[in-house]
Amino acid sequence: MLMEASKSQKDDQDRKPEYDLRQIDCDPDFWYPVAWSHKVRRGKAFAARYAGYPVALIRPESGPVYALEDRCAHRQVPLSKGVVEKNCIKCCYHGWSFDSDGQCVTVPYLNREGVGRPVRSFPCREKGGLIFIFPGDPALADSVPLPGVAQVGNPDYKTRQFSPRLKCHYTFMHENLMDMNHQFLHRRQMGSITARFLGQDKGENFQEARYSFARKGGEQPLAEALIFGRHKDLQGREQPVEEVVSIRTTYPYQTLQIHDKDGDLIMDLWTCYVPLGADQQGTQAFGLLSVKKPKWGFLLDLAWPVLGLFTHRIFEEDREIVELEQKAWRELGGDRNIEVFPTVKALRGLLARCGVPNKMAKPVQKG
Ligand code: FES
Ligand SMILES: [Fe+2]
Repeated sequence: MLMEASKSQKDDQDRKPEYDLRQIDCDPDFWYPVAWSHKVRRGKAFAARYAGYPVALIRPESGPVYALEDRCAHRQVPLSKGVVEKNCIKCCYHGWSFDSDGQCVTVPYLNREGVGRPVRSFPCREKGGLIFIFPGDPALADSVPLPGVAQVGNPDYKTRQFSPRLKCHYTFMHENLMDMNHQFLHRRQMGSITARFLGQDKGENFQEARYSFARKGGEQPLAEALIFGRHKDLQGREQPVEEVVSIRTTYPYQTLQIHDKDGDLIMDLWTCYVPLGADQQGTQAFGLLSVKKPKWGFLLDLAWPVLGLFTHRIFEEDREIVELEQKAWRELGGDRNIEVFPTVKALRGLLARCGVPNKMAKPVQKG
């Protein structure tokens, strides 16, 4: 009985987040990518951002990259405009120098120790060509694993990096990818296809949905055939399940994997939607898209630009939609979504319970 009650409470929570979902901030106690590794050259600093926080990424002359608040403790000018000297960053204004812990080690014109103030430092790691910071409680950083990042480093796959900025709350991005029932939007790119829902899994910190696709008409796009192989023309008959598309939000990350009929992983997408401003209504997405190399690997190299264009066009259609959703949210003063698809309802519940309501968050009207 007790179990029943708690289950129905949980389902209820899944249906109705307690706060407006677009006022739920990302939980900062995770690793978030803030820049591509290649953007932060040795001996240089780079300006990044997380949810309104300016972050200076510094790659010293030797040793690993580190992250400091991008405001000098003296007059708050960006440290990323400074000069890297050995393992420290020297502010461009009066030359205060800060080490990787954010301690001020020199105030050059006073020649006395202990006068400068420190700046905040963030735990910082590098993986898969990305620089991650841990914006939350630094004491937790070591106990929270870095995410897997598609198939970076696996010689059987070719991986593309992408990092678009979007004028919308990160939750719209999770919903857009999880919800494969919007293929109508992509009809010009994909022809007439429909998603078949195969099933879902959910847990405390994840939600997964699986689909296959059936073509109802039109030609299979070239780029799709390059990934999946050419599908037989079934002359109007229902297409049997061939590839399975699994979309999973494992908070706060999202993946899309495609397995072929033999169960081989043929495409592996990993993304993270990082809030840009303090209101979290702008997003810097970082993504890695790995495609399994065919037997003749050079074919994939040849097809790479076509694939890039194809995925870019689809993405731009999604971008327009999520930004329009954000605009409607702003104009209506809140989230009026009428969600009817159980997987997306559950995803909204996951994002609501894993995130942190912001200071402006209003409880949602029940009923
Ligand atoms: S503002 Fe940075 S040293 Fe003065
Ligand atoms: Fe889409």
